Amino acid sequence: MSRLTVALTKGRILQETLPLLAEAGITPAEDIFSSRKLTFETSSSDVRLLILRGSDVPTYVEFGAADIGVAGKDTLLEHGGDGFYEPLDLGISTCRLMTAGVVGKQSSNGRMRVATKYVNLAKQYYATQGRQVDIIKLYGAMELAPILDLADEIVDIVDTGNTLRANGLEPRETIAEISSRLIVNKASMKMKHQQIEAFVGALSAAVDGSSK
Ligand code: PRP
Repeated sequence: MSRLTVALTKGRILQETLPLLAEAGITPAEDIFSSRKLTFETSSSDVRLLILRGSDVPTYVEFGAADIGVAGKDTLLEHGGDGFYEPLDLGISTCRLMTAGVVGKQSSNGRMRVATKYVNLAKQYYATQGRQVDIIKLYGAMELAPILDLADEIVDIVDTGNTLRANGLEPRETIAEISSRLIVNKASMKMKHQQIEAFVGALSAAVDGSSK
C-alpha cells in the first residue's frame, strides 16, 4: 500500500487538528511540540505528517509533495487557483477575515492605503467594492499600521476582536468566514483513491462527532 503524506499547519490549527486526527485513529509517533523535526510517523504505518507554515501547505499539496493538507480558508483564498480539491470543512480555527481601521476615523473615499499579509485577497475585495487602494504588504502586527498612519485600513483575521480593541481599532466589513479545510492533490485523488476516501471519511466522522 502506498503512503499518504499529510501536510499540517503549525500553530493553533495544528493544536485543533491533532484531536480530530486522533479521533480518526491517527496519532503522531512522538510529541510534535517538543521536537524540532518537520516530519512525523504516525500510529498508522501508511500515514506520515509534515509540519509546515500555513502559507506553504497549498503549495506542497498543489505540486504533489503532500497528498493531503490542512490549512485555513484565508490561506487557501490568498493562494488562489484551483490546484487542489477541498473536500472537507474541518470546522476548527474559525474566525473572520475583516477590514478594520482606527475607532471613529472615517476612511477616505479617495485612494486608501491598506496594510495586510493577504495581498491578493485584499486587492480582489476592494476591487469588487469599486475602491482604489494601494496595498502595503506586512508579515505581522498589522494592527500597528493604522495607528502609526502607515495605512488607512488593515485586512486581517479577527477572532475575539481583542487584538483590535487593545490597539484602538474597530472591525468594519467582513470579507469571508474562515475555518480550516482539508485539501487533496488532484493526481493523488485518482492514484490513491481508496486510501484518500478512507482518510477523508474518518476525518469527516471525527468532525461530525466533535460538533455534537
Ligand atoms: C491573529 C490575527 C490577529 C489575532 C486576532 O494573529 O493576526 O492579530 O489573531 O485574534 P483576536 O480577534 O482573538 O484578538 P495570530 O495570533 O493568529 O498570529 P499571526 O499574526 O501569526 O497570524
